[in-house]
Amino acid sequence: MSFLSTSLRNTIAPITEHVETPFFIYDLDKLAAHLQPLTAQNVVKLWYAVKANPLSRVIQTLDAAGFNFDVASAGELNQVLAQGVSAKRVLNTGPAKSKRQIAHFLKTGVRTFVAESINQVTWLQEAAARDQITLRILLRVQLRWPDGEKNPLGGDSLTPFGLGCEEWKSLTLASFPNLDFAGLHIFQWGNMLDTKKLSSLWSQMVPPLRALADSLEMNLRILDLGGGLGIPYTADQISLNWPQLLDTLATIKATSGVDELWMELGRYAVGECGYYVNPVIEQKTNYGHKQLIVAGGINHILRPAVTHQAFPSEILRHSEAPTEPFLIHGPLCTALDSLGQHTLPGDINEQDWLVFSQCGAYGFTESMPYFLCHELAAEYVMQHGYVECIRQPETADFYLR
Ligand SMILES: Cc1ncc(COP(=O)(O)O)c(C=O)c1O
Repeated sequence: MSFLSTSLRNTIAPITEHVETPFFIYDLDKLAAHLQPLTAQNVVKLWYAVKANPLSRVIQTLDAAGFNFDVASAGELNQVLAQGVSAKRVLNTGPAKSKRQIAHFLKTGVRTFVAESINQVTWLQEAAARDQITLRILLRVQLRWPDGEKNPLGGDSLTPFGLGCEEWKSLTLASFPNLDFAGLHIFQWGNMLDTKKLSSLWSQMVPPLRALADSLEMNLRILDLGGGLGIPYTADQISLNWPQLLDTLATIKATSGVDELWMELGRYAVGECGYYVNPVIEQKTNYGHKQLIVAGGINHILRPAVTHQAFPSEILRHSEAPTEPFLIHGPLCTALDSLGQHTLPGDINEQDWLVFSQCGAYGFTESMPYFLCHELAAEYVMQHGYVECIRQPETADFYLR
């Protein structure tokens, strides 16, 4: 199975004739088509987790599809507002909300916050009282599970995201007159591809969350389930089935008795629309293993080093040569700079380009672009038959001082 259509190959190939360094390209038509059924329902209100890909044109496509926006920093907020999105459609999550950041968010008109600590609740109250406004607040809850799931978001281990039920129980909601405690937020998994497992995890969360709301005397109107919906990174993985997920979400909504269910989607919203296109520097054989050295590695796509999961890759040109296993390495002076083992045509060489798929989320901005001073990756979009360069590649003198 290929992640690349012929028309996509035909779009990418001419770009590689006039550029020499790695670039991302996002298919915005594919993105819009993917988003359409996500918002065409009234079960769950969807926010886009901007951290997944903050490129202007990506945000604009999410906006046109009817998504709201979950931002984690002043930088993400400013980027969303710069695309013409109203602050009323912005939600702020994240464990590091300083008083300074809270003041900036209030000034721009943001009124909905996920609070992750007692201090955040106190500081949000102080800022709201100063401005004589009311803020809508969800408390982020960190639960523990008997059959713990481990992943980069924490799973069952201690993380800085929210507080446990016992810690939240010390809060007296009535002491915060400018805060409308509308609901609870919970999100502890990433990249889940199994609807049954998601359904089981979500169902297990409802009783402890209801119990917490009762103990806080909170009228639980909103339940935010965060993100965590996965996409396939190998040809044998099967995509989530959105209608099936919606059924599951409708059940969770009914059993939890809330008025609104929310999710902030990152990977599932944009992951499949992006490709990272990377020139091959050379092929060599080392201790009997075939290695490919490529121009861009974890300086542009860090995720394989964090998750030990490769992005799928294919050669751009057509090759009839028998395939072989290759270990792909980026340009950095660390063995961490591995893009995984891939099956590729044996004749691949220094004239070739590799295309890594499923790179629309957690690509360009999740990486470590400055290490070793290689070029920063360019970013292109394709939409309505046109290809546009949104960000030119930059050499290191762009940022070195
Ligand atoms: C609070 C919050 N919501 C949503 C997301 C998006 O998660 P995903 O990309 O798995 O949908 C994240 C990702 O880290 C997050 O921290």
